[in-house]
Amino acid sequence: MTDIHHYNLKEHNSFGISAQCRRFIEYSSIGELQDIISEIANLNEPRVLHIGGGNNLLFTKDFDGIVLHSAIRGIEHLQTEGDEVLVRAGAGEDWDEFVGHCVEQGWYGLENLSLIPGEVGASAIQNIGAYGAEVCNNIKYVEAIDAQTGQKRIFEASECRYGYRSSIFKHELRGRYYVTAVVFSLSLAFRPDLEYKALSKAMAEKGITAQDITPHKLRQLIIDVRRSKLPDPHEVGNAGSFFINPVVERSVFENLSARYPQIPHFPQPDGRVKVPAGWLIEQCGWKGKTLGKAGVWKLQALVLVNTGGATGQDIVKLSEAIRSDVKKNFGIDIFPEVNFL
Ligand code: EPU
Repeated sequence: MTDIHHYNLKEHNSFGISAQCRRFIEYSSIGELQDIISEIANLNEPRVLHIGGGNNLLFTKDFDGIVLHSAIRGIEHLQTEGDEVLVRAGAGEDWDEFVGHCVEQGWYGLENLSLIPGEVGASAIQNIGAYGAEVCNNIKYVEAIDAQTGQKRIFEASECRYGYRSSIFKHELRGRYYVTAVVFSLSLAFRPDLEYKALSKAMAEKGITAQDITPHKLRQLIIDVRRSKLPDPHEVGNAGSFFINPVVERSVFENLSARYPQIPHFPQPDGRVKVPAGWLIEQCGWKGKTLGKAGVWKLQALVLVNTGGATGQDIVKLSEAIRSDVKKNFGIDIFPEVNFL
């Protein structure tokens, strides 16, 4: 267990923002976590923040409290029944290493989620998604610990209330449970999902047909597409998509498409329409622009970046300016996907 007082969280948030916490504790087993929970209960410590890889966090000031981080590792094959393979991964496993391991083992289903930065525990909280896939479609159940009592609890996927970038752990039960492991339902049969436009376009450019595609090729293709558009957080501080794509009523969309016939859009099962925030932001002229030490990524306007030495407040200012312009020009509110602290 790591337990450090007055710790700088710069290495623990992908924006690379310098922020101090009062204490930083990293645990590597459920037993250690339960010990920490009992200790915290006796400390009268009001503020506890559990982080994953810090890929979705924006520190706007120092954190006056305890920060917890899971280093629970391990990937375990639980069972195979027919085509279905159940695989359990510790919350502290690196997400992309886990995806790579699954592809190597011949356990398929996660290829489209390759290279998403972060850890396994957070994947189940954020319901990470990319290129037409969402992790909830491969989650069987989530193992968690009650943040107050230290008791174990299992959440079947159906109890997790998964939606676009949302889950019960982000909303109704926010901060109430710490995810310790996730059990994934994967497949021995490779059924690639190649529908997403950016993916079919990249395949056409590389001359890869649906017949040629193998799990390794698909993973590599996703990695190449991501690298071509998204900044590497090790080089340029960022938190991936800064905003959630707004989902608007059909009537709102029809008004918009009358004005902008070329607007990209994704009809939702409930009749509403998802509009890419990146497109809205680009139309407002923000793509590639900077405000102080914060900027909008030149190749994907949904990604805000730390151009070097930015504070959390610099990023907030830029995000507010963007939100206000999108509202002014399109009448649409966009909301951050990133959590502000
Ligand atoms: N677009 C623009 N300008 C931009 C960015 C996008 O016009 O600067 C347009 C694109 O041309 C396309 C549409 O918007 O027509 C959608 O763009 P893209 O495929 O890049 O996806 P996105 O909606 O901007 C979402 C996820 C990403 C994920 C990609 C690919 C959210 C909030 N973001 O972005 O997730 O990688 O789809 O599936 O849903 C993340 O969560 O951190 C993340 C990167």
